Amino acid sequence: MKIQRFSKIGFIMAAAGSAVGLGNIWKFPYMTGEYGGGAFVLVYLITIAFIGFSVMVAEMLIGALGRADTVTSFERLAPPGKKWWKYAGFMGFNGVIIMTFYSVVIGWILYYLFTIVTSGLPETTEEAKRAFNTLVGDQIAAQIFFHTVSVIIVGYIVYRGIKAGIERINLILMPALMVILFGLLLYAMTLDGFREALAFMFEPKWEKLNSEALIRAVGHSFFTLSLGMGAILTYAASLPKDASITQTAFIVTFMDTLIALVAGLVIFSFLFQFGAEPGQGPGLVFISLPTILHNFGTLGVIFALLFFLALAFAGVTSAISLVEPVVQYLIDRFHFTRGKAVLLISFIYWLVGIGALLSYTNSWGKVMSVGGKPLFDILEYTTDSILLPLGGFLISVFVGYLLPKSQLFAQIGREMGERAYRVWYFSVRYIAPLALLFMMLNLMGVIEL
Ligand code: TRP
Repeated sequence: MKIQRFSKIGFIMAAAGSAVGLGNIWKFPYMTGEYGGGAFVLVYLITIAFIGFSVMVAEMLIGALGRADTVTSFERLAPPGKKWWKYAGFMGFNGVIIMTFYSVVIGWILYYLFTIVTSGLPETTEEAKRAFNTLVGDQIAAQIFFHTVSVIIVGYIVYRGIKAGIERINLILMPALMVILFGLLLYAMTLDGFREALAFMFEPKWEKLNSEALIRAVGHSFFTLSLGMGAILTYAASLPKDASITQTAFIVTFMDTLIALVAGLVIFSFLFQFGAEPGQGPGLVFISLPTILHNFGTLGVIFALLFFLALAFAGVTSAISLVEPVVQYLIDRFHFTRGKAVLLISFIYWLVGIGALLSYTNSWGKVMSVGGKPLFDILEYTTDSILLPLGGFLISVFVGYLLPKSQLFAQIGREMGERAYRVWYFSVRYIAPLALLFMMLNLMGVIEL
């Protein structure tokens, strides 16, 4: 079992590449819009600081100490007699489930890049709506085609491995993404809409914060940091020897949060500039934004291309972290070659992904639904609301209660200093598991807030 090591900067970029994804640039802005802005953002920031960061440190620690795939890492670190903890490592399979719909959305983004180049931006909201609804509702072949392209791109990068694939692509795409987004921000700052965007995102209107918004903010802070699924764990198994877990977790958390906020500011500045509504749901980026950008003429087309390019980069670097854990597992435990592992996993989520995209179409929607719910939504709900919080719960319980205290202190205490370490330890033992358990039960409808 030979594990390659990232370079220090390579690890930071890879972990940040995992964290910064569709969640930051597509989902965070539309959720902020739907849940009324400021108060939602504040809850999101607080959970990131007090729960997200602590769990990220815990998850990195398991990988850095275990130095193997998710299952083997849990098995190695579990105390004698408790080796059944290795089953917690199966959280890696959540990545495959997430990939079924994540890849479909990357496909939509690629399709948008393609159509913006070939036929420009929609002129009216109706036209934009029609374009998006036709893509999702009727264009089966186009969706399958671009979903397949996404599967091939992601598969190829993972096939090249930790250094030549994952590290290398992140070292290119992450800086590129940041240059694009910060460039767009600079332009957005010159617009009148920018002040409105600032106010919308940072002035908390508490009356808009209902219990649903609260729970969704906690859940999203988890999704956006790539926690609870073994992605960060698997990358941390390749952590360079002298890297500080605390420091890298901090940088990654910071970058992820910053990019979500910047993406939000850019999108809302453009939208408010022409008086568009923020609460448009998932179509915000695919319907409202292109229509608004049309008002900027040629410049708008360039902005749209840059924006969707950044979105594609963010999506791909996250996608590889969803696939790598299971691939690593198959290599370590079943002696698969990397190529075979990638082929098998890619084929599975490619196939189920087709089912997911069909579930939104007019012709197949009924067939691909269970109890009136499209397969796409079922897959998303299961991972987002049940499996990821469950994974996060297991990670914090494992680190908080099963790893020897001396081992924790030797690593994390030395890095953080005693006082911060105590706060972290408290969060991992009490706050994080309780919050996650509560959230999971609430989302499953077992308890009400
Ligand atoms: N964090 C990514 C996003 O914001 C998605 C993602 C990648 C993810 N890897 C993950 C989510 C692992 C949960 C677990 O889009």
